[in-house]
Amino acid sequence: MSNNISVLISEEELNARIRELGEQITRDYQGKEIVLICILKGSVFYSCELAKHIGVPVQLEFMRCSSYGDSHVSSGNVRLMLDLDIDIAGRNVIVVEDIVDTGRTLYYLMGLLSDRKPASLRLTTLLDKPDRRVKEVNVDYVGFNIPDKFVVGYGLDFAQNYRNLPYIGVIEK
Ligand code: IMP
Ligand code: MG
Repeated sequence: MSNNISVLISEEELNARIRELGEQITRDYQGKEIVLICILKGSVFYSCELAKHIGVPVQLEFMRCSSYGDSHVSSGNVRLMLDLDIDIAGRNVIVVEDIVDTGRTLYYLMGLLSDRKPASLRLTTLLDKPDRRVKEVNVDYVGFNIPDKFVVGYGLDFAQNYRNLPYIGVIEK
């Protein structure tokens, strides 16, 4: 796939902000252990970079949901494609997402996880598009608020492409 992509957030800006968030999480979780849940596939890059900057014990786990299919129009119909293989009851859980858009995916996922009785449950997202919210979700740690534009890179895709870009970009029309 070849399109012109303009840089919205550079690799340097991403890494600097993620380092700050990791340091903030380290302060907030002193004396605790964290279960980081990486939401596949989009938050792989963010989860790995974030985990490197967390200075308390971290267990890295994975889940996958689907709501978009291969287009960029949310179907609003969220499905769980891959579940955890651990019990999170009594654990301190942080869900790591790439982007919160309408909020439908995280509304569903946070409800599902909170039913499993973790000791604490928080959410971090690299990107937030607050203007697009349909379902209310409480985000504890936000990387960047961005305008209502479709973005790719640093894990985010358009029809499974562009995830490997080291920056966040916008596809030029
Ligand atoms: P929500 O359920 O509408 O909040 O959508 C969440 C999911 O939609 C994210 O995890 C992404 O996979 C996808 N998504 C939303 N906006 C974008 C975008 O601008 N670029 C790429 N994927 C997006
Ligand atoms: Mg996603």
